[in-house]
Formats: sequence, C-alpha cells, structure tokens
Amino acid sequence: MAPSRTAGSSLIPSGESSAKPPLVGLARSLSSWFHRATGRLERHPVAFHSLSGVAVLAIILLLASSQALPAGSLPILGICLLVSFLLGSLCLYIWTLQPESMRRPKNLFLLASVILLAVAITRYFLFFIPSVNQALPNVPLSALEYSIPVGLGGLLLTVLFNSRLAFAGALAISILTSLLTSAGLRFFLFSFVGSLTAIFALVGRKDRATLLGAGVMVGLANLYFILVWSLLSGATESLGLQLLCGAVNGLFVAILSLGLLPVFEYLFEVATDFRLVELCNLNHPLLKEMILKAPGTYHHSVVVGTLAEAAAQAIGVNPLLCRVGAYYHDIGKMTKPLYFVENQANARDRHGKLRPSLSSLVIVSHVKAGIELARAHGLPPAVVEMIPQHHGTRLVTFFYDKAKKVQDPDLGEVEEENFRYPGPKPQTKESAILMLADAVEASSRTLTERTPGRFQGLVAKIVTAIFSDGQLNECDLTFRELRLIEESFIRVLCGVYHPRVDYPGFVFEGPAARREFNQRELSRAGILKFTLERPPARGEGDDDRGQKPTKEDQDRHHLPKKGRGDHPR
Ligand SMILES: [Fe+2]
Ligand SMILES: [Fe+2]
Repeated sequence: MAPSRTAGSSLIPSGESSAKPPLVGLARSLSSWFHRATGRLERHPVAFHSLSGVAVLAIILLLASSQALPAGSLPILGICLLVSFLLGSLCLYIWTLQPESMRRPKNLFLLASVILLAVAITRYFLFFIPSVNQALPNVPLSALEYSIPVGLGGLLLTVLFNSRLAFAGALAISILTSLLTSAGLRFFLFSFVGSLTAIFALVGRKDRATLLGAGVMVGLANLYFILVWSLLSGATESLGLQLLCGAVNGLFVAILSLGLLPVFEYLFEVATDFRLVELCNLNHPLLKEMILKAPGTYHHSVVVGTLAEAAAQAIGVNPLLCRVGAYYHDIGKMTKPLYFVENQANARDRHGKLRPSLSSLVIVSHVKAGIELARAHGLPPAVVEMIPQHHGTRLVTFFYDKAKKVQDPDLGEVEEENFRYPGPKPQTKESAILMLADAVEASSRTLTERTPGRFQGLVAKIVTAIFSDGQLNECDLTFRELRLIEESFIRVLCGVYHPRVDYPGFVFEGPAARREFNQRELSRAGILKFTLERPPARGEGDDDRGQKPTKEDQDRHHLPKKGRGDHPR
C-alpha cells in the first residue's frame, strides 16, 4: 500500500505501477486524499476536535438505541453524562500521565474513532443476534452474546497507542458496551477480561502474526471466564455452546484486527511497531535503491541504526523508531550521491570546482530531498520528522572553514547562518539520539587507531560539541541519559571495529601482500610457472627480490616495469 513513487527516484520500471490491480490504485488514491485532508486539518486543531465531538455524539446515539435501556429522555441524559465522564477521564489521563505527543488532536480523534468502532461492532452484533437465534433456536441468546468480539478495542488501542492507554480505554469500552446488553455485569466482566488478555498478549510483540496469537489467547480467556461465570451462576445447561461461541469470539478478534489495523495505520499515519518492523526490512524499495545509488550512505545508515538502537534501549525510549529513523535519515543523498564523501570511493571530488557556499547548499539539500522522498513513499510522519531533525541547525563546518579561508577580506566576514542546516532541532529523544549517532559514526571513520580509549575521547567530543551548539535544547534528554548514550555508543563502536585473528597463509597488507597478489595474477594467466601452493624457497621470505619477476621475465613476457605493476585495490 505504499504510495506511488516519484518518477525521478524509481529504479523499478514504470510498467509496474500500471500492472497494479485497480483496487490497489483506488486504495492509494483514497489514502493520499485522506492524508491531504488530515494534513490540512492538523493546521486547524479545532477541526479535529470537532471531528472527535462527532465521534462522541455517534457513541451516544448508538448507546441510546440500545434495547436494554428504558425509553425516555432521562436515560439519554444519563448516557450523555456517563460518556462525558468516561471520555473526559481518558483525556485527563492522556494530559497528565501520557507523553506530550499523545495530546495531538489527531490522536484524540483516533482514540474516539477506535472506541466508536468497538461500540458500533457490539451494537451491530446485538442487532443481528435475535435473527441468528431464530435461525438456530438451540443456541441461547446468552451463548450468542459471547461471540461479540468486544476485546478488539483493547487490542487496537495497544497497537495504535500503548498498553497503558489501552488499559484505560478497555475499561471505558467495557463500561459502555455493557450498557448495550441486559446482562450488564456479566458482559462488562467478559469484555474486560478479553481486552486485558489481548493487551497482555501483545506486550513486546512486534509482528503482525502475533495478532493471531492474541486472538487465540482471547479465545482461551473467554473459555476461562465462561466456565467461571457458569459455576458462579449455577447455569451450566448450554455450557458447551457458550464455550464454542467464546472460542469463535477469539477468531473474530484476530480476523478483524488483521483487517482493521492497517486501515487505521495508513489513514492516521501511525508508526506502530508492526509498521516500523516492516520499514526495517532491507528489501524496502527505498533501501534497495540506496544500495545501488549510494552504497556508502547505505552502510553508514545501517551502522547509525545499530548505534541509535543501542542508545535508545539504554535510556528506555523507542529503539525501533530510532533504527528506522537511522535507515532513512539520509535517503535524500540518493539524488546527488557523488557529492557525499562516503560515496565517492575512487571518483573525483565533485566539490573541487564549486564555491564553498554552493557546496554547502548541495550538502544541505539532502534534507529537503529526503523529506520529499520519504513522503512520496508513505513513511510515517514520526520517521519523516527525524530527517530534518538529525542535523538540526548544525553548521556545515568543512565548507564554512573553507569559505573563511578563500573569502576576499574586502567582501566582509563569511556569514555563519548561510552554512547552517535549516532545522528544526531535535524535538524528541529519538531524534536527538539519531543526531548524536550520525555524528559519532561519521567521525569514527576518521580514526586511524580504533581503540576503546580513542572511541571514548571521540564520543565525548562529539556529544559536548552538539550540546554546546544548543542542538539538544528542545528535547528532554537529561545529563544522566547523555552519559548512558555515550556509554552505549562506545560499546557498539568497539564491537563494530573489533580486531580479528590473522588468517594463516594470507597476507593482506604491505609489500608481501602486493607481491602475493602479483604472483597470483601471473600464475592465473599462466605466465609464471610457480603457483601459490609452492612453498617458498629458501631465502625468499619477505624479501621483495625473492618473488619478483626477473628482468629476463619482464623482457620475455612484456611484464610491467617496477612501480607500474601494483594493481589498484
Ligand atoms: Fe544527513
Ligand atoms: Fe547521516
């Protein structure tokens, strides 16, 4: 369901898009229309609050249509007060005990939509249960009520938000749905047990297959609850059918969550753990394209991902978001890969003939290009926002210093602001970690001696420089967390640049390695009779003269003269 790719960036033949089924195209059009609409609405929070109000009104209307409540205006007034209390408590909970990012109007609308969906599904099932009962008179209504997938709400809230909010939301959903049936307490307990099981079944799970497992767990919890309630009430006549309906309930929860979750993810652009795991897949079109166009940047991104993920784990923030942010933070470099040193290899330096100010513009432009590519490929906003924030408003130091050296004194001082990234500075701990990991990885490549002591000094210098530049002013990192991040960086760098034991029989460096390489090439071409397998003759050792072709060999076989035979490696 990734949105269509930009023509300039795609390595996939254009025919691919035309081969897509029309339904996929329709889904993409609807999704992009919804994103544009919500993007515009986000600039006007009142609009989203109004939509949340509409969702709350729909919940009230669904509850008011319940057959279990007495007719009249007083029950409706009671419903209004109860819904206001429950949803107001949820809002208060979000404002006081949840992260600030949860307070966005879009998230509140998403929360109201999930609760509305849970209530609507329950109402829909209760509407059709009498008809099913007529068709299957042997199955009592109480058994059919156990097939209502009321645990779905808690499951969706766990994946879309977090388990703490899901716990509070499940409580509200259980209270509201219990108003729809005549068996109020029984249905409340049944709903709450199912929801809690779904929440606990998903803790720490990061792939969609676990939704099936959560459905199975909900089914088992239903069986347990039905058995307990039957024993408590002494009504065991239709226990078998009740247990069967409870098991089917788990199946409904799994199927509906698998179908509905991607809809919420794409419509509301939520970076759920499931979505982030999918984006970590190195077969993602953007990453595959980066391997071909900018291999140096690709490798840099993977190492930054390892550094950032370890640091996030050390301070208890989202490691998966850090890894995904790192994988995609420099995708904008694909538009001009050879202007970035990690992709130049043996190519000439493209900045040689450019003015420093122009070079700086080219370097800075990878941020804007990255944002455009990320949006075109439908990356979640949480990942897109990390692209500009990984540089914040830092200075492009290399070209700023170069500009100062070549600047004509008559033209005045070089403006530092012209050599800074546009920002914004990191707004979250994850973005701050990415900024630090990016700078540490890049500078670690300049080290010739890679020892723990050198890494410690490098990491300390980089973190101090970024902190002193004020780049961490707008995120909530504490000094203690910075120390933990530094320690994890040093640990990972020591692991990445670990030493290895020698390979017996192989020499990779120095004159002996060159001699061995030449010997192998000549032997392969059949020019010289000796091979690598031949044990070195007495006196050959590491002496260059021992294995070099003689003057006679060179004349006979037109071999290159000294100094021209080294193969470029
Ligand atoms: Fe970058
Ligand atoms: Fe980078």
